[in-house]
Amino acid sequence: MQTNIGLLGYGTVGEGVARIISLEETLLSQKIGWPLKLSKALVRDLTAPRGFPPPPGLLTTNPFDVVGNPDIQVVVEVMGGIEPARTLILKALEFGQHVVTANKALLATCGKEIFEKAAQTKREVFFEAAVAGAIPVIRTLKEGLAANRIQSVFGILNGTTNYILTSMSQHATSFDTALAEAKSLGYAEADPTMDIEGEDAAHKLVLLTALAYGVLPSLKDIHIEGITKLEPLDFNFAAALGYVIKLLAKAALNPEDGRLEVSLNPAMLPKEHLLSGVTGVMNAVMVRGHASGDIFLSGAGAGMLPTASAVVGDIIEVARLEQTGAQSIRPSLGWHSLKGDAVKPAGDIRSSYYLRFSVEDRPGVLSSLAGAFAKHNISIAQVIQKGVDPLTNTVYLVILTHSAPERDLSHALELAGTLGFFTAKPQLIRVENLN
Ligand SMILES: NC(=O)c1ccc[n+]([C@@H]2O[C@H](COP(=O)([O-])OP(=O)(O)OC[C@H]3O[C@@H](n4cnc5c(N)ncnc54)[C@H](OP(=O)(O)O)[C@@H]3O)[C@@H](O)[C@H]2O)c1
Repeated sequence: MQTNIGLLGYGTVGEGVARIISLEETLLSQKIGWPLKLSKALVRDLTAPRGFPPPPGLLTTNPFDVVGNPDIQVVVEVMGGIEPARTLILKALEFGQHVVTANKALLATCGKEIFEKAAQTKREVFFEAAVAGAIPVIRTLKEGLAANRIQSVFGILNGTTNYILTSMSQHATSFDTALAEAKSLGYAEADPTMDIEGEDAAHKLVLLTALAYGVLPSLKDIHIEGITKLEPLDFNFAAALGYVIKLLAKAALNPEDGRLEVSLNPAMLPKEHLLSGVTGVMNAVMVRGHASGDIFLSGAGAGMLPTASAVVGDIIEVARLEQTGAQSIRPSLGWHSLKGDAVKPAGDIRSSYYLRFSVEDRPGVLSSLAGAFAKHNISIAQVIQKGVDPLTNTVYLVILTHSAPERDLSHALELAGTLGFFTAKPQLIRVENLN
């Protein structure tokens, strides 16, 4: 007896899966009770050099050597992109194959269709590798914390941006220098847009929200903001104020109005918080359950073997299912049915804010700014003024506000903008105290 696996893709993750299945054959078979076998792997180019050379006959360019092949019980989609991955996954489920995927972009955009098909066909779709690489956060939310009302999920979900922010914070480098460094070390892709503009982390946040709250939000309903506008100056001010800047994914139930707040943006976190200590390419997730309290998970969010670790973990789970002959009736997202709740519009979400203004050095600026804020009920908690730049006659004025709805802050900033003393666009970073 053995469980046969077909890979859709033999790139970074596919090769990692092949390495673990081949090199850890005995270990895996001791854990499962029989061996796993790689039967076929779909690629585009049969002649491309491979870091872990596949045995003769493994590679194919015909997707139907994998999907619908009656000898293959588990289809592992590690090809990426939306199509043809979406169609091949749907077909595999129709053919009665279980699916393991690492494709967060696909699940965040077409998840509903895929999870519904899995329920209809009574097959599993596992996706541990799609969120935070090696960290077993999907299983933690779906199983370990199933008894809990989840109060909040906070995460650092993208290694590239965390590397850049760590470098800007610890070595006072500019964004461009830190990005170039990340590229040279292989931590950023040639086109890093999906990472630095926050889309990649937002895909993962959609999945975490679904697991925690049974609500699959649409990307367009989430406030998504990347890290490209951050400047070294902001890291200096953050440090002086006792904060660290992170790209923070947040899904939380507001205890006052019972509504769901979902956002992905740079945020200032208290420097002593566990999430602030997550540096370099590491990822982390902090879940607060009403019964469990805080659970903190941290580890490698990407890379060949860390990602393959999560994929193979899922494959083992499917192999065990096959062992019991169980036909899946377990919902992929851990909820019997998804709720239709809308997430709260960004304008209604309350936060404290760090605001950095570049203003002309003339009397009355601070009082006018305070007046504009007061008019829109924004209360100021702290002000720092940094000396005049003699070349531009500019003063940096940093304001920390008390908590206020984002809509009110936008109106206050609009009004302040009409007063005519800004020499550059104000910088705005949310302050998240994580309580
Ligand atoms: N890399 C990571 O650290 C990481 C971490 C977490 C999740 N993921 C996710 O894992 C998935 C795979 O990522 P990856 O980094 O392994 O990608 P990759 O290195 O680009 O590999 C993609 C593989 O799929 C094959 N492929 C792509 N499109 C195909 C098509 N239309 N027909 C046939 N074969 C096709 C490629 O074939 P060729 O080799 O012939 O080009 C290649 O073997 C993505 O969804 C990604 O988001 C990756």
